[in-house]
Formats: sequence, structure tokens, C-alpha cells
Amino acid sequence: MGAEVVIEGLTKSFGQQAIWRDVTLTLPPGEVSVMLGPSGTGKSVFLKSMIGLLKPDTGTCVINGVDVVRCSERKLYETRKLFGVLFQDGALFGSMNLYDNVAFPLREHTKKSETEIRSIVLEKLEMTGLSGSEDKLPGEISGGMRKRAGLARALVLDPEIILCDEPDSGLDPVRTAYLSQLLIDLNAQIDATILIVTHNINLARTVPDNIGMLFRKELVMFGPREVLLTSDEPVVEQFLNGRRLGPIGMSEEKDSTQMALEQAQADAGHHDGSTEDVRGIVPQLQPTPGLPERAGVRRRKDRVMRVLHTLPPAAQEGIIASLTPEEQRHYGVGHDLVGVRSGQLPPGEVAGLPGDPAAHEPGTEEPTHRLPPYRQGPS
Ligand SMILES: Nc1ncnc2c1ncn2[C@@H]1O[C@H](COP(=O)(O)OP(=O)(O)O)[C@@H](O)[C@H]1O
Ligand SMILES: [Mg+2]
Repeated sequence: MGAEVVIEGLTKSFGQQAIWRDVTLTLPPGEVSVMLGPSGTGKSVFLKSMIGLLKPDTGTCVINGVDVVRCSERKLYETRKLFGVLFQDGALFGSMNLYDNVAFPLREHTKKSETEIRSIVLEKLEMTGLSGSEDKLPGEISGGMRKRAGLARALVLDPEIILCDEPDSGLDPVRTAYLSQLLIDLNAQIDATILIVTHNINLARTVPDNIGMLFRKELVMFGPREVLLTSDEPVVEQFLNGRRLGPIGMSEEKDSTQMALEQAQADAGHHDGSTEDVRGIVPQLQPTPGLPERAGVRRRKDRVMRVLHTLPPAAQEGIIASLTPEEQRHYGVGHDLVGVRSGQLPPGEVAGLPGDPAAHEPGTEEPTHRLPPYRQGPS
């Protein structure tokens, strides 16, 4: 199972420029998470902070008991080996063929023989659909293949955590769909913790178990996918729908005059360029038939059901609706619990788990930092 990543109060600035502050979230082990955010909100800076390439000002990022923000160089070096990173451009060496590119971390970081290296490289190239392309140079293959080669290279050290920086950038929608499937299939096969940074809405709606969003130097929310996908937070709705109308502007943040002007134009019938209204929970991508089930999905169900009563009603409804009738009985929730919809039942009753007394007692749930830090907006 992949490693858990517990991030608390992480704050980063470059000189006078604040990038984001007080980011708190937990990447649950073996689950797939997406971090959304407009360009320039510091998503890449966030990934680099997680692997200790950049030093946040304050806060902690703990992996297997090691805080990568403050640990020794030696511990950092050890902890980095847990990571496989797919950089935005694939970051392949242009003068090396795919075989040597993928073999590079093994030759650099291990004492394995060339025979052992060969079997690992060929296995990872096969996993990423690149068998037969070993001799190609990065410049001779398509963008999608380069991404997959970058992913193959990220896999050779058997990572527990995989970070992908905009894996869809430069890919057409079909290639992006294939890459999404590949990430889910990989997760089913190796149960690694995966964090994908992207502004691709389709990927965000269909791939991850958890979604977060960075905006205005803050983590707007982070939690089970159902929370963000049913959110009526204006910035989330605008982003999911690719609308101009809303708080996000060309230079990220809009002032109220600009917002009022655009609202007036829209009221007068000017179309703002978005397509149909995109909202709600769509089915999540499943592993390709024949592959094992994702272990993370089973663990996630237990985890999410424990905190169900802390989530907004629309997210609760979506989660309950995604369960099979047997699961609904197992967790003691279901269609007959109309109170979930109307909010009549006390929250403890909604999420009541058989044999989990903590779930019935508001205030006795797990410590806050373990909860998806869902925020109800600026209340
Ligand atoms: N090494 C650095 N030194 C100074 N500023 C940086 C550095 N890396 C990133 N930045 C700044 O941090 C901000 C966020 O960048 P980035 O993380 O690349 O955004 P995103 O990936 O969300 O598009 C940008 O304003 C960028 O100029
Ligand atoms: Mg970036």
C-alpha cells in the first residue's frame, strides 16, 4: 500500500510574493487525488515542496514519520526514493533512447545488474504501453508517448507515492482519456498514493477519489470527490464549468467592478463562452477489465463513511447513492433515510456506522487534520 502524506499548515512565499498559505490536507494511502487550480496558483510549487525541492516557510509534510520540510539531507534523500514524479514535459533526456531514459534512475540510484535493470525497464515499458519503442528517441515520438515514457521512468523505483504535474498538458482529449485510464490501472496494480495536479476538468471529474482546489493563495477545499463535484462555492462552479462569469479572472483574481460589468453583460444576453452546465457526480473511472480491483477504493469507502456526517448534504447524498444496496445495509444508510435529504436527522444518525460509537458522537471523531478539511467558505 502507498504511503500516507500528512500536510499541515504549509505556507510558501518567494521573497515578498506569497504563493499559498496554511495548506492542510492528508493524501490517504493508495488513493488517487487531484489538485485543481488556475494557472499560476502554485500547483507545481506545491509538488516541489512535497519532495523537498523547495522549502516552505512554515508547516509540515510528513511521510512515514519524516517531515520533509525540516528533515536532514540524508532523510530527505531516503524519503525521495518513495516518490515517482512525472514532470510536466516528461523531462526526458533528448539524446537518450526510451530504454536508457527509463533505466536512468536504476543505474543512478541502485546497484542492480544490467540484467535486472533490463527486466524492470521492459516491465514498466509494457505497463505504459511502450513495448517495442525502446530504441526511439524522445524527439521521434508523440507527446502522449513521451508522457507515458516519463511515467514508466517514474515507476522503476517502485514508488509508494506518484506525483503527476499536469499529465494532460499538450495532449488531445483522446490521449488524455488513455492517460487517465493508465493512471487508474497503475493504481489498481501497485496501490500507490497518487496526486495529480491539473486544470483538466474531465480528468478531475472522472479519475480521482479526492479533489482539492487552490485559489487565491489558499486551499479552497480538499476532500472526497463528491464534495467538490457538488459544491456551490462560486469559484469551484466557475472553474468546473470553464466560465468567465465568476471570481476567477484573466489575471487570476477579479475586482468587484469587473465582476459587476461581466454580470451586466451576461444579464443582457452576452454568452460567456462556457459550454453546457457541468455539475454533479459522474461515474468514476474503473480499472480495465481483467485488472485487480483498486484496494484504495475499498479503504476509501470505510474512511469516507466514517466522516460522512461532516460532509455537506449534497455530497452525502452522492456518496450514499454510489453504494450498492448491500453496502448501504452494511453502513446503515440508504434510501429509506429520507432525513439525509431533508436534513431532519441529527448528523450522528446519518453516518451511524455499526460498531463505530465515535461516529454517533459529534466531536469525538478523528482529529481534525485527519478529516478532509472541507471548508464551508468564508463563514
Ligand atoms: N523558484 C521560484 N522562484 C521564484 N518564484 C517562483 C519559483 N517557482 C515558481 N515561482 C512563482 O510561483 C508562482 C506559482 O507558480 P507555479 O507553481 O508554477 O504555478 P502553477 O503550477 O499552478 O501554474 C508563480 O508566480 C511563479 O512565478
Ligand atoms: Mg505548473
